Amino acid sequence: MSRIKVLTVFGTRPEAIKMAPLVCALQADPQVDSVVCVTGQHREMLDQVMRLFGLHADHDLDVMVPDQTLNGLYARVIERIDAILAQVMPDFVLVHGDTSTASATALAAFHRRIRIGHVEAGLRTGDLARPFPEEMNRRVVDVVSDFMFAPTQTSRRNLMAENLSGQIIVTGNTVIDALAMTTERLKNDPALCAEVAARHPWLDRSRRLLLVTGHRRESFGEGFVNICAALADLAQRPDLQIAYPVHMNPRVREVVMPQLGGLPNVNLIEPVDYLDFVWLMQQSELILTDSGGVQEEAPYLGKPVLVMRDVTERPEAVDAGTVALVGADRDRIRAGVSRLLDDSQAAAGFRRRSNPYGDGLASGRIVSALCGRPFETFANMTDEND
Ligand code: UD1
Ligand code: UDP
Repeated sequence: MSRIKVLTVFGTRPEAIKMAPLVCALQADPQVDSVVCVTGQHREMLDQVMRLFGLHADHDLDVMVPDQTLNGLYARVIERIDAILAQVMPDFVLVHGDTSTASATALAAFHRRIRIGHVEAGLRTGDLARPFPEEMNRRVVDVVSDFMFAPTQTSRRNLMAENLSGQIIVTGNTVIDALAMTTERLKNDPALCAEVAARHPWLDRSRRLLLVTGHRRESFGEGFVNICAALADLAQRPDLQIAYPVHMNPRVREVVMPQLGGLPNVNLIEPVDYLDFVWLMQQSELILTDSGGVQEEAPYLGKPVLVMRDVTERPEAVDAGTVALVGADRDRIRAGVSRLLDDSQAAAGFRRRSNPYGDGLASGRIVSALCGRPFETFANMTDEND
């Protein structure tokens, strides 16, 4: 049994959450020498996740600067990761999803002829402008990847249509591994739940909770103005409480804080760590978001989700009827939320638990594939076209 050296690289909050269970599985595997490098693309929000999952970075590139430009960030990642690649000389580099960290790292590894594994490969909207620049990033990573770990059959089909040279493996999404670990922790530890609840004394149990997140670049400016206007309208409902952990991007904050700060029914809070966010999702009546990860998590928790985008690379839950798109549009957001609050039958349809994104076993499949060991793909979704 030959040993392999695997360098896992991530830098933003969602990448860290989705890579955390995989890093745990790599570290526990006797066949793997696991090395972790964080780029620090998100400084504070990344550190929150590292602490929660007890992750330790062997290398930290510390690339973030306030209000960073895409090109400045990209250049810093490429230059600094190259030195780590030269030093570590891994058999595989693992990157995640569609961030600048992922595509810059993949290109740097490609130039050094190091094999690349892309976790969460094959998500596509088909529109390079939405989400921007993520649709480009994930395409670039797949072009140079040796292993494409597709979360679902849909993502696998997207990859097959592009005639790429790497191997496609359907694993499920590691976000469900992270979510299952976290909900188990909360379920088995009432004292921990009480600690989390004590951190959110603002939660008013007599009102229904609308949990909001938003950060997409294509909604900067007018889109965020519309989103905030819709939230201000909804905040007039006496039966509703709105909680919004505001993303740290200054382009988000410069609109959200002045438009919504001070409204009595809106709680603008700092980004919370993943444990608290999962707990808040559990307490919520419905979720309004533009986040990719939240779209995947909420159906597992049986929570209705309205997505503030016009297109999504995650059509599975839309097809299952537990997620709907409302754009960054004041009227559609207001109407969508009101319908789910006022029409119990419509809400019940959205609340059906569905699990299209994973079964909590994705990390183990990825480690087995890297080690060359046999395993069953997610939901036995093999296809004769393989
Ligand atoms: C990035 C990803 C996006 C992902 C999102 C998750 C790219 C191109 N985009 O977008 O795909 O969905 O993260 O949140 O990689 N900031 C802090 N502290 C933090 C995090 C961010 O201060 O912990 C501020 C900084 O001023 C930073 C800015 O937010 O410059 C923007 O961060 P950046 O990673 O460039 O973009 P995101 O919009 O977060
Ligand atoms: N999340 C969190 N704290 C928050 C808001 C979100 O831990 O205050 C989690 C959420 O559960 C999901 C991830 O962060 O797993 C999503 O991150 P984000 O919305 O920044 O990025 P995206 O998913 O759009 O790439």
